[in-house]
Amino acid sequence: MSPSNNTVKPPKKTVLSLGNLPPKPTNLASIKPPYPYTPSRVDPNNPPWPAYRGYHQYSFAYATMGVRLPTILGKAISDTVKTLNELSSEEEIVDLIACINRMERLMKDLTSNDVLRPIIDDGEGDVPLWNKEITRFFQGKDFMSAPWVFAEAYKYRRLRECFSISKFWKDYDVFFRQKCETFSRSADAVLELSARFAVPFTLPSGLDESQKGCALKAMFMELTQICLWGNSTDLSLLINMTEEDIKRLQSTGGDHLASTEKNILGNDLSQLWDLVKSLDGGRVDFVLDNAGFELYCDMVYADYLIQSGHASVIHFHGKRLPWFVSDVTRKDWDWLLNSCVYGKLFNDASESDLVSLRLLGARWKNYVKEGKWVYEQHPFWCSGYSFWDLHTEAPDLFLHLSHSDLVFFKGDLNHRKLTYDCEAPASTSFETAIGPLASRAGAPPVCSLRTIKSDVVVGLPDDEIAERLDEEEPGWKISGKYAVVLLSDGRPGEEVIFN
Ligand code: F6P
Ligand code: MG
Repeated sequence: MSPSNNTVKPPKKTVLSLGNLPPKPTNLASIKPPYPYTPSRVDPNNPPWPAYRGYHQYSFAYATMGVRLPTILGKAISDTVKTLNELSSEEEIVDLIACINRMERLMKDLTSNDVLRPIIDDGEGDVPLWNKEITRFFQGKDFMSAPWVFAEAYKYRRLRECFSISKFWKDYDVFFRQKCETFSRSADAVLELSARFAVPFTLPSGLDESQKGCALKAMFMELTQICLWGNSTDLSLLINMTEEDIKRLQSTGGDHLASTEKNILGNDLSQLWDLVKSLDGGRVDFVLDNAGFELYCDMVYADYLIQSGHASVIHFHGKRLPWFVSDVTRKDWDWLLNSCVYGKLFNDASESDLVSLRLLGARWKNYVKEGKWVYEQHPFWCSGYSFWDLHTEAPDLFLHLSHSDLVFFKGDLNHRKLTYDCEAPASTSFETAIGPLASRAGAPPVCSLRTIKSDVVVGLPDDEIAERLDEEEPGWKISGKYAVVLLSDGRPGEEVIFN
């Protein structure tokens, strides 16, 4: 047979006449997919609106996946090398070098955009949760093509794996040094608050009931803002922050807070107060974000809720793993409480400043002893799932939260997970954006206190605000200058209607 007989020829093109079909629209781009997807079509790779993915150059996902995460990982390696250089035991040295090698391997996978592989079984309880999600939704996906929120969380879980399969370094926190350092550079704001709250607050004498209500409300409004803006100093964004930067971000003066209220673009503060003042010895939960100064502000706020009698118990939910650089772990929680009481962090502080901090810390530690403050860390908070999946992937946690009178979610990442981190229009109501956590029977009232540091923005009165800022202030979604205080008031059983 001659070689030419072997060559496969392409089939001839068949041309069909389409003349009797409806005409093609002149503007095809005007045909939009039916967002939001119905809940049955939603899954971790297909959120209700289009996901942000690492390859989207218009999104913060691109800079984060391509530049910020390798930088953060590089700093984590330097921190571990610093620890290595302080060791004397050969066994520990050899074991830590293996951790560093694994981090270098992770760096290679990340920067060469490798496929997301399953998590190695390191005996941690969350491995099945991770590997189920990877296998069902992300087979063959890589760091840049998986939805950003999943890929970013996956990187922190892989970082944990570098240590969790070691012998001596299972609990090593590559971010611990940074977290402590930043708090010790926050002296002004920390001492300003401790001076005011060292002694339990009292209202001026001679006030009638309505005046007392006004005074409590005024204090509540200021403290909510302190708790909110405490979120603007997360370490993952401010990698090279100066002391001046920290001071500016942590300014707690009344005038400053009044002027920053206009930067709260979706503002349910009044509705929040209506809910809080109706609580009489209720239970409040905080799904925490960052350690150090933000946690300190959360504690000041939680202390107010206890002292005012609105809450009798507060549950704080932290992370089981070092997470997104600055998030609170149990070690950070203990460190902060003990540093307030015993620490020598603030060299220039006066004796009375230090006494006020000690008193505050001692009161807080007492709340813990009395069971008024409870620290918890469910594995779900360090999974790749958004909170739309909380009731299915962590039903025990959903049930636990359903007993709360109000659940605060602090910060940007929690907000991304509440809203599935997707391109919902800015005017989408908060209830619609958080899906089952607002609509499921048993869903508690949910409040997101978030300074805006990434693309997803919902709960604004209209779309025009976002459009105007897009034009006038490029970068407004990642600057931390703007915020939202959004409340879903938890009406169990009400269904949100989708298209
Ligand atoms: O890496 C991006 C990011 O996840 C953003 O969501 C945010 O800028 C930051 O990291 C974490 O912020 P927060 O500590 O407020 O969740
Ligand atoms: Mg954080």
